[in-house]
Amino acid sequence: MNVLVIGANGQIGKRLVHQLKESNHGPVAMVRKEEQVDQFKENGIDTVLGDLEDDFTHAFEDIDAVVFSAGSGGHTPKSQTKVIDRDGAIKAIDEAEKAGRKRFIMVSALKANRDSETWSEPMEHYYDAKAKADERLRNSDLDYTVLMPGRLTNEEGIGKVELKERIESIDNKTITRDDVATVIVELLDAKQSYKKSLELLQGSTPIKEAISNLN
Ligand SMILES: NC(=O)c1ccc[n+]([C@@H]2O[C@H](COP(=O)([O-])OP(=O)(O)OC[C@H]3O[C@@H](n4cnc5c(N)ncnc54)[C@H](OP(=O)(O)O)[C@@H]3O)[C@@H](O)[C@H]2O)c1
Repeated sequence: MNVLVIGANGQIGKRLVHQLKESNHGPVAMVRKEEQVDQFKENGIDTVLGDLEDDFTHAFEDIDAVVFSAGSGGHTPKSQTKVIDRDGAIKAIDEAEKAGRKRFIMVSALKANRDSETWSEPMEHYYDAKAKADERLRNSDLDYTVLMPGRLTNEEGIGKVELKERIESIDNKTITRDDVATVIVELLDAKQSYKKSLELLQGSTPIKEAISNLN
């Protein structure tokens, strides 16, 4: 499957394009700066230049699926969270629809799926932006999966997760970016994950089994 990865230069994005390549998919890394291209090309990974704040329609040519893993990051003004995490994600959904690309995986955040009463500063605006983009995707006709990981870490993946529409006990739990990337690779073809919103944390179930349990 040719997979457009939006946010490919990010910490999940880089892991994801490499894992996609290893699993014989055709990743297309969307990056916003020319100097970010070579690191992918050196590994035989296709790239496309595109900025969520400009027109990136061209990125949707010849692809079968889209993964949105971009984010404004924690060091930008709150207004940028609206521009990227909300409006950039919504533009990506619009573009996928216009181009007739049905499969769309959104990397959201677990707490965006929880009651807004539980949100607090300084994260409130971020969860709100994520939740608005997720809502737009749920109201689309795309074969979407809203994937909602908890707090991300950079440790090595262990390949075992908890992946459910609702995880009851979430306190103090995390998930490695490695394992988030692996879950995305495995979800791409998993029809039982279409039209679902799934919370993701580290757990005790091997990733493939956690995905087949969605049936
Ligand atoms: N941090 C957490 O604990 C946590 C928890 C749950 C979910 N998430 C979500 O997980 C996703 C991935 O996280 P991560 O840690 O991989 O994030 P990251 O390392 O900050 O990567 C985000 C990527 O988005 C790109 N981006 C920003 N603005 C852009 C624009 N205008 N056009 C195109 N690309 C743009 C950045 O590009 P540059 O490299 O050029 O800056 C960067 O590569 C995000 O959506 C985040 O909200 C995070």
